[in-house]
Amino acid sequence: MTAARKIIIDTDPGQDDAVAILLALASPDDLDVLGITAVAGNVPLPLTEKNARIVCELAGKPNTRVFAGCAAPLARPLVTAEHVHGKTGLDGPPMVDPTMPLEDQHAVDFIIETLRQEASGTVTLCPLGPLTNIATAFQRAPDIIDRVAAIVLMGGAYFEVGNITPAAEFNIYVDPEAAKIVFASGVDITVLPLDVTHHALTTQARVDAFKALGTQVGETVAAWTNFFERFDKEKYGSAGAPLHDPCVIAYLLWPDIFAGRHINVEIETDGTYTTGMTVADWWRVTDRPANALFIKDIDAEAFFTRLTDRLSRL
Ligand code: BDR
Ligand code: CA
Repeated sequence: MTAARKIIIDTDPGQDDAVAILLALASPDDLDVLGITAVAGNVPLPLTEKNARIVCELAGKPNTRVFAGCAAPLARPLVTAEHVHGKTGLDGPPMVDPTMPLEDQHAVDFIIETLRQEASGTVTLCPLGPLTNIATAFQRAPDIIDRVAAIVLMGGAYFEVGNITPAAEFNIYVDPEAAKIVFASGVDITVLPLDVTHHALTTQARVDAFKALGTQVGETVAAWTNFFERFDKEKYGSAGAPLHDPCVIAYLLWPDIFAGRHINVEIETDGTYTTGMTVADWWRVTDRPANALFIKDIDAEAFFTRLTDRLSRL
């Protein structure tokens, strides 16, 4: 058996972040979660770090290390998404306050230290929110960039364009300067954009399957998805809501159910209407070098079946 892949989950929970964390913590044979680093995004930092701890406790993994990182984007005021995720970020079922501690170390210092300590090329970064923590670590310690095995992130869009503005996806929009630094870093990047996640839609049958697990995790995931569905159903007229962030962890576990292209992706930082846009050269109409594997397709049925099955382990 091969050793579990070492990952750091950088996140702004968010119900879909929470499901991603649960999926990772349910997969210890495949993924070794070295730490969870919280960033401001869906809700402010005091809530995202708290939510990360709530999720670890729900998973029955209170020894997971959770770190608080950057409270604001590199160069702009924070934009949040309570309209989607509710006031707490984890609205839906009532959640108990966590008792496990928050680590004292700043998330950025943890990322830097971990990449320096672990063998080069063995740690994968999994950003599920704005890229502020990752970009700050790269700026502060450029020596770590070559040591990153890969970055697999949720963010951006091409055919689906934007969800927070007509042109931009939320995670990239909140901190485009950070995204620019990450996409220019030369690290092996895989992007799970809205083009993929808008096909990973909850349906009544899929939510019922979470519930049918008959566990606290199953009940909670069903209640979370029911909560944020209401917004997406209204907005897109779709049958359910996209489970964005779990696609990142699913890609690490089951790359066979995804397909994409190596292309150039540039980040718009000062557009009049397009700030935060991922300008993805899907048709390869420029000679700009490829800097990311941009995923476009997912086998959604396999994704939900495997996700539900994995969650049954918690
Ligand atoms: C992304 O934005 C957040 O609201 C979700 O958690 C996800 O990471 C989708 O645009
Ligand atoms: Ca997120």
